[in-house]
Amino acid sequence: MSKLVVYYSRADENYFGGEYRYIKVGNTAKVAKVIADETGADLFEIKQQIPYAKDYDTCIAQVKEDLRKKARPQIMNLPGNLDAYDEIYIGYPNYWGDMPMAVYTFLESFDWHGKKIYPFCTHEGSGLSNTPQKLADTCKGAVIEKGLAIHGSSADHCHQAVLDWLRK
Ligand SMILES: Cc1cc2nc3c(=O)[nH]c(=O)nc-3n(C[C@H](O)[C@H](O)[C@H](O)COP(=O)(O)O)c2cc1C
Repeated sequence: MSKLVVYYSRADENYFGGEYRYIKVGNTAKVAKVIADETGADLFEIKQQIPYAKDYDTCIAQVKEDLRKKARPQIMNLPGNLDAYDEIYIGYPNYWGDMPMAVYTFLESFDWHGKKIYPFCTHEGSGLSNTPQKLADTCKGAVIEKGLAIHGSSADHCHQAVLDWLRK
């Protein structure tokens, strides 16, 4: 059986400890790449068919609305099944203590019985919040392992934290 790293991440304008900055690669994408490199896992990016806005304030408003209505944004190139994988790393940015709604679109598309899920997130202070429980509620039959939380501004330097987490 193989391993899979699935992640959601947003580039473009983001907020880092008091300032707005445009970035080419999102924070969670950076952490996902390190995990995939270290584990030899396949990598899958959850991409919304209609992405959120590039500017931060508009994006915030769109996400807020999607969270409120529990939207399930359509995602591109959804795999047919996850049969080849038994260990799945799932990464996302913390959005108000929750996962982006497109992550739920992904999660609700598969049967999770017998899978091990390793959650990881990037954030600006909230850590994983309650997302491991939300994963357990959504992915019935999966075992949720201890998660990893990386501060967004540390995503470029997450290598050691990832190694420590993988060792455990
Ligand atoms: C809509 C939105 C809501 C957010 N809510 C939180 C939050 O509640 N707590 C927190 O610590 N960070 C929050 N953040 C910050 C992101 O979790 C953080 O910048 C993350 O590293 C972004 O990852 P990405 O670059 O992979 O998209 C939020 C960011 C956005 C865009």
